[in-house]
Amino acid sequence: MLATVHSAALQGIDAIPVLVEVNSGESGDPRLIMVGLPDTAVKESDDRVFSALANSGYQKPQTRTTINLAPGDLKKEGPMYDLPIALGILESTGQMSANGRFGAFTIAGELSLSGATRPIRGGLAFALAAKARGLKGVLLPSPSAREAALVSGIEVYGVDSLDQAKRFLEGELELSRLDGSDFFDSASPESSLDFADVKGQGQARRAVEVAVAGGHNFLMIGPPGSGKSMIAKRIPTIMPEPTLEEYLEILQVQSASGVTKRWDNLRMARPFRSPHHTISDVGLLGGGAIPGPGEISLAHNGVLFMDELPEFKRSALEVLRQPIEDGQVTISRSAGKVTLPCNFVLAAAMNPCPCGYLGSRQNECACSPTQVQRYRNRISGPLLDRIDIHIEAPALSIEELRTAEKGESSESIRGRIQSARLTQQSRFSGNDFSTNADMNEAAIEAHCLISSQMGAILQSAMEKLSLSARAYNRILKVSRTIADLDQSESIQLNHLTEAIQYRSLDRSTRV
Ligand SMILES: Nc1ncnc2c1ncn2[C@@H]1O[C@H](COP(=O)(O)OP(=O)(O)OP(=O)(O)O)[C@@H](O)[C@H]1O
Ligand SMILES: [Mg+2]
Repeated sequence: MLATVHSAALQGIDAIPVLVEVNSGESGDPRLIMVGLPDTAVKESDDRVFSALANSGYQKPQTRTTINLAPGDLKKEGPMYDLPIALGILESTGQMSANGRFGAFTIAGELSLSGATRPIRGGLAFALAAKARGLKGVLLPSPSAREAALVSGIEVYGVDSLDQAKRFLEGELELSRLDGSDFFDSASPESSLDFADVKGQGQARRAVEVAVAGGHNFLMIGPPGSGKSMIAKRIPTIMPEPTLEEYLEILQVQSASGVTKRWDNLRMARPFRSPHHTISDVGLLGGGAIPGPGEISLAHNGVLFMDELPEFKRSALEVLRQPIEDGQVTISRSAGKVTLPCNFVLAAAMNPCPCGYLGSRQNECACSPTQVQRYRNRISGPLLDRIDIHIEAPALSIEELRTAEKGESSESIRGRIQSARLTQQSRFSGNDFSTNADMNEAAIEAHCLISSQMGAILQSAMEKLSLSARAYNRILKVSRTIADLDQSESIQLNHLTEAIQYRSLDRSTRV
């Protein structure tokens, strides 16, 4: 007898419909044949499924059984087909009767040998796919069902075992329909870090605030021990809360990469990723046999912090250029081409030279001009051009460190950032972007008007610093954010001059 169960395969962060067909009762020696481009984890499924069946009190098939994962030209990865395969076997061997309910749900889940379900990657994507397909709902392992329940308009059920899933489909067991909002952790993330710990560094603190408020990329340059990493580690404490729409995008990437499998609850927060400089190109951009998200996608709608920027491989830095510009990255593999979102704020830190002390008041720099130039050249002009805010963080003297007052708290900085973000969201409502940094040409024209006197100042700065047309637009966008933080309708001269002053590295590399 043939049983057909709806399931799905993950491609990047999206789920593609897969039909699991199980046919039992074929003539020939009693064994299981799996077809439809399964990878090793899928092939191992029969051992797990047989054991799960036995330990749940059911029989494994006594006749030859064929399992087909359709479409046959799509590679299938991971153990998520255990549950649909086990249910398909139960139906096709006459051990259950789903009465057509298989047609209503997308079903996925890993099984342990005992028959308990285990969470899988991509629960949220499966729910989105089920909705797009017009199915009634999804049936997933409980931890994966929580994130799926954020998708409105479909029914989401979580199961803890094969037996529960079977009895639910037979109509013997009632399960309560899940609501995603029940799983939000209301408490804001506890962090022992606070911007109040950072002494001095007024300029760097201000620049970080502007960058996070408007979603602008920024680079901190300073000698060892000046507090660059310290400042960066505190960025999560001032990031604005994501909208539900932004959060769903964040969650879809995190879920596809498997991070959410270990989460107890969902927390409305933006991601902050800080990959080490030894990371591979695939780790950074994404990839793998069936392409999955890399660090830049895991930082989607959040911050990607690249400490010691010149230490990253040149190739890795160069491939970043296009994703920074487009907010998405396309990866081609033999298994197919996927496009992943990666709209992140790039935060970077570096020393001014190899020894680190160029321009320092306390230490003498031991580098030759050629060494300095070579070091800085590791970051190409085009990459630098995409970084809106360059800020110097000079080292504080022991005296300054001892006497300087505590800085402003993260909570109060975050308050200003949050309200600047709300201003942007209402300004751009109806558009497909919500931050000043993501403004398109038309939006720049509409919202970044400057007086002719300011235009002349900007033009002369452009000539003096030999800035590109891209830098011109980026300066206007940063000015808009500074005006928003100032709760000013229009961009004023002081907003523009502050934004111009943030292009310091363009200046210093060109002297
Ligand atoms: N402005 C500051 N206020 C308070 N403490 C500071 C400040 N700057 C540095 N420190 C202290 O110095 C330590 C080292 O700072 P941090 O690691 O941020 O330096 P860095 O600029 O990243 O240096 P490197 O270039 O070597 O990576 C901090 O953990 C902190 O204890
Ligand atoms: Mg550091």
